[in-house]
Amino acid sequence: MSKQRQLIAGNWKMNGSLGANAALVRALADGIGDEARCDVALAVPAPYLGQVRDLLGDAALASIALAAQDVSPHASGAYTGEVSAAMLKDFGVRYVVVGHSERRQYHGETDADVAAKARGALSAGLVPIVCVGETLAQREAGQGETVVTAQLDAVVEHLRGTAGDDAVAGIVVAYEPVWAIGTGKTATPAQAQEIHAALRRRLRQAGESTAAAVRILYGGSMNAGNAAELLAQSDIDGGLVGGASLKATDFLAIVAAAR
Ligand code: PGA
Repeated sequence: MSKQRQLIAGNWKMNGSLGANAALVRALADGIGDEARCDVALAVPAPYLGQVRDLLGDAALASIALAAQDVSPHASGAYTGEVSAAMLKDFGVRYVVVGHSERRQYHGETDADVAAKARGALSAGLVPIVCVGETLAQREAGQGETVVTAQLDAVVEHLRGTAGDDAVAGIVVAYEPVWAIGTGKTATPAQAQEIHAALRRRLRQAGESTAAAVRILYGGSMNAGNAAELLAQSDIDGGLVGGASLKATDFLAIVAAAR
């Protein structure tokens, strides 16, 4: 079981505008104040990173961190449309989501791509939030645990091979069952805890202290009503929140439910 401070990360996905972002970030900064009871991050669309950094001001250093939703596995060069980890770092970004199921599904990202992105993010001093999750068909076929542990292993093995065991301690993992994302169907706390415990066991390959240090977030229709029970599970160390992160009152309620 992890003893880490919990992390609640909002994933805005492809939502927002200059006006809407300003209203949302101001409401969140007011609601959270100088000292959140947990770590808080906002994963905003790349064009708005500068705007949200400016809106957060000092809060970005203190209670609300800036996050990105994706990163190139490459350091620089002829990769039209991509954004490097160093560029994100330049904008004060602390976390970056890698391997979200929407990227795996719509952009064909493989486990190897996700591992390379995680490695690149760590090299630039960012914390990758590595997403894993099974589809409904995989769960119904009894393969949920096998699928998510294989997704995690791909990243852990790559990091151990290229950067050593200690690098693994620098990641955050997010378990996001694909069937629960944006569907209003949430994994029950017991279902989520079972997978989180399996993920924690896999992290022990990189050592007991690493496994305890890595935060494992739950994501998939987390909302103001179900957050407290999910976040009370022994291996759930926070949440990756999509839809409910777009409404200040809902997101603040989730932050308030964190330990
Ligand atoms: P959701 O999305 O909270 O809208 O289900 C979570 C995510 O995809 O990160």
